[in-house]
Amino acid sequence: MRKLGRSRRYSLSDLPERLRRWHAPRANRWERLCVIAGRLAVEALEADAITVQILIAADTRWIAPGLRWRIAELGEEAQFELEIHADDASSASAPQSVRAVLLDEAGSAQVDDVQSLDAVLRSLEPGHRRIVRAGFDIGPVVRAAMADGGGMLCWHPLDAGPDAHAALIVRASRTVGLVEYLGRDHAVIEAALAGALRGDAERGRWLRNLLARHLWIEEELLFPAWLGVGGNPGWERGLRNEHTRLRRDLEHLDDAVARRRFLLLLDGHDEKEEQIVYPDILARLGDAAAALTPRAIGRGVAQDHAGG
Ligand SMILES: [Fe+2]
Ligand SMILES: [Fe+2]
Repeated sequence: MRKLGRSRRYSLSDLPERLRRWHAPRANRWERLCVIAGRLAVEALEADAITVQILIAADTRWIAPGLRWRIAELGEEAQFELEIHADDASSASAPQSVRAVLLDEAGSAQVDDVQSLDAVLRSLEPGHRRIVRAGFDIGPVVRAAMADGGGMLCWHPLDAGPDAHAALIVRASRTVGLVEYLGRDHAVIEAALAGALRGDAERGRWLRNLLARHLWIEEELLFPAWLGVGGNPGWERGLRNEHTRLRRDLEHLDDAVARRRFLLLLDGHDEKEEQIVYPDILARLGDAAAALTPRAIGRGVAQDHAGG
């Protein structure tokens, strides 16, 4: 690892807003948070849950490429610095390995009927996730469970073939809002992408399904609501243009040039949404965001293909 530099010293009075929002080191970058004085709390969006870590003077914490984190609390006395390190062994345009584990390390459960699906959902502990596979449409049961789940149960539908249904089901340890859900969805998309680039045909299919659904949620639900409350039409057009380019390059991932373009664009697009666009949407929509959440999260994959 090669140290690239160290930030200035941050404290409560001059903490940049971006460090309070979810953000992540780039693909081949590690960050090291070094506490100089006082006490602070760091939240990280791990695969299964949001973890909170309290750090005090002289503590350090490494933050891996792609791990979304933020400063959750900063004491009056707290001071810290950030070191940036480059990992020269991994390519800047590689999918971020920390996110691939979302699918690679999720347990899998095959369910044969509604009762066994129900049992799997009920046995899922907070902070756990599972890939559920079934020969029937699991959507109605999962949506009903999500409606009863207090906003902590959510799914990322992966497949809805004639007899091959699959979804990643997550029971979070606290309520998942719309913006946090979409950030998690980015991570699941990138995890499927990592599998697709390994040549795994099923992951390739999941990637197309996930991306089609995610873009549908943004284009049909999120962006119109955002424009309705004064969202920037120029930004919105730019994001839609990027979606068009993502859809086009997705069809040519076996071509090295298109693949590289797709990886770089997806990474930058997701980062821009998470750091700038989603917080703006949330700030403008306020409580109205909650009304969109069940429609967005409840969306299945099979529906999306009809809409293109
Ligand atoms: Fe987008
Ligand atoms: Fe997005």
